[in-house]
Amino acid sequence: MLRIAVLVSGGGTNLQAIMDSIRDGKIKDAQIVTVISNNAGAYALERAKNYGAEGLLIAPGDYPTREDFNQALLEALLERKIDLVVLAGYLVVVPPCVIHAFENRIINIHPSLIPSFCGTGCYGLHVHEKALARGVKISGATVHFVDEGTDTGPIIMQKAVAVEDDDTPETLQRRIMEEAEWIILPETIGLIAQGKVHVEGRKVTIG
Ligand code: GRF
Repeated sequence: MLRIAVLVSGGGTNLQAIMDSIRDGKIKDAQIVTVISNNAGAYALERAKNYGAEGLLIAPGDYPTREDFNQALLEALLERKIDLVVLAGYLVVVPPCVIHAFENRIINIHPSLIPSFCGTGCYGLHVHEKALARGVKISGATVHFVDEGTDTGPIIMQKAVAVEDDDTPETLQRRIMEEAEWIILPETIGLIAQGKVHVEGRKVTIG
């Protein structure tokens, strides 16, 4: 049984997609052990409660130093014997101590086709504003392993989504969630739970 921690900061629609997929049996041999938020007001914590999963608040501002926060996050994951950390709209930089302890066991969903519209400062609606400003006809979402860079880890899965002429950042964001994010994030977790995702350097193979 793959023991999952989902890290969130906001609404948690991707968390919901994962919970629904586990409940529907589309993801097998996996369980959400904990949902960790840095933000007390995150609706994702409400979703965790409704689902019956533990919701934990671990916020940098509640610790005397950043190092104390980093250690608290690491300890929470180690204590719960987490196998896979899923960043689902988590707006905090994951500390190096966590990245090293969970090498190739942390995944993130990013709402563009990496390497387009990613990196520092490219999160939330900014991603879609940049895509529209550049005039791309296709955008999409990427699930990747997390390394010490920003959106630089090995790519596991991508799905393209058409950009429409009258899109706003909000409409594009919604379509990418519905047509890509909520599909490829649960799919990736399901494949990891079945031991079908293999990483060699920067290359990921499935099978
Ligand atoms: C999603 O667009 C995801 O790609 C990005 O943050 C957003 C989170 O949305 N990393 P939600 O909290 O899952 O609704």
